[in-house]
Amino acid sequence: QAGVFTYDPGFTSTASCDSTITFIDGDKGELLHRGYPIDQLAEKSHYLEVCYVLLYGELPSPAQLEDFEGRVTGHTMIHEQMMYLFRGFRRDAHPMAIMVGVVGAMSAFYHDSTDINDPWQREVASIRMIAKMPTIAAMAYKYTIGQPFEYPRNDLDYASNFLRMCFAVPAENYEVNPILARAMDRIFTLHADHEQNASTSTVRLASSSGANPFACIAAGIACLWGPAHGGANQACLEMLQEIGTPDRIPEYIARAKDKDDPFRLMGFGHRVYKNFDPRAKVMKQSADEVLDLLGVEDNPILQVAKELEKAALADPYFAEKKLFPNVDFYSGIILEAMGFPTSMFTPIFALSRTVGWISQWKEMIGDPQLKIGRPRQLYKGATLRDYVDIENR
Ligand code: SDX
Repeated sequence: QAGVFTYDPGFTSTASCDSTITFIDGDKGELLHRGYPIDQLAEKSHYLEVCYVLLYGELPSPAQLEDFEGRVTGHTMIHEQMMYLFRGFRRDAHPMAIMVGVVGAMSAFYHDSTDINDPWQREVASIRMIAKMPTIAAMAYKYTIGQPFEYPRNDLDYASNFLRMCFAVPAENYEVNPILARAMDRIFTLHADHEQNASTSTVRLASSSGANPFACIAAGIACLWGPAHGGANQACLEMLQEIGTPDRIPEYIARAKDKDDPFRLMGFGHRVYKNFDPRAKVMKQSADEVLDLLGVEDNPILQVAKELEKAALADPYFAEKKLFPNVDFYSGIILEAMGFPTSMFTPIFALSRTVGWISQWKEMIGDPQLKIGRPRQLYKGATLRDYVDIENR
């Protein structure tokens, strides 16, 4: 059909590519990062160690991990002049709009690390992106709620730093709850990379022209924003809020099954997983832990989510269509319980996925065979014809 990508398998690029970073088996519900299963990484590792695995291919030694974490920690602040970029937005701007703009603008501030032909500058750009995304996401949030920016603190771990930059205010002392920090870190890990999804393919296509990494990551953020992709966690929670009570679930199940109704169950289905999404399993366990800790296990949204999942999985239509909860189904519930507005769900997904985009970028940009991505098409428009002057039309 029109627009179907056909591609020349002779070049490393974007319509299809070789990669050694992430493997997905959609039928088995398997997700491996450099061969390590996602459930083991989520349980035994932590986000910055997973970043190291994605970037360099192996689990780090203690010394390598300490050095890597030190390099990331040393780049968590953004150029002071960048603060003015936030102030150009209206206060009601969506934080994703701010992130697209501010990350793209990094090209103008960190041009000394954008010579993509220099492996060392590729390394510096990678570290800067991973280090600064939490700061930018937190500042986008603070700006939209009218609170002062909080600077990063280098004595805190990655997830704790982000939570503090989002929820601390100068007027009060703020202590990060370690269980919430662990849940936040696990959300980062579960979203870190996912093979050639739409936003990663966007980053690869943009990068294949030789554009600088910050502009290419901004393109990935823009693509992730869509409700069929990273915007699904926000759309899912808003759907659960709209359903409101379990007795309204049958109405929404019927709509999702109605061919003439464009409504989709947000948080269900996947382009690749035709069985369960292994990340959703871990996320569901995290949701129970966080809601139990916060004493909100009877959270009405969670009740609707659990009843909706039960109803959908019991319905032959969804089993036949192989539609199961995906990573976005439970992440929104956890983030809402932590106190984030739905508008911050996709920025947190973007923050988490930065390491995946950067790892895939580094893998591709380092390939001497790289050619610019140029997907082809099946043309189905008008055949050759002559121009007709306007007086003869
Ligand atoms: C992410 O690619 C990635 O890796 C993405 C991601 C990542 O980590 O980067 O995993 C993150 O984007 C997860 C997906 C988040 N999106 C949502 O939760 C939005 C709701 N889901 C749908 O929009 C949909 O499931 C997609 C876009 C995710 C997949 O769409 P497809 O490729 O059409 O799914 P499919 O081919 O398996 O669909 C089979 C059938 C189709 O009906 P028929 O044409 O066969 O009649 O099921 C229908 C679909 O229309 N269907 C749904 C549905 N998803 C698919 N019907 C109701 N509700 C849904 N959610």
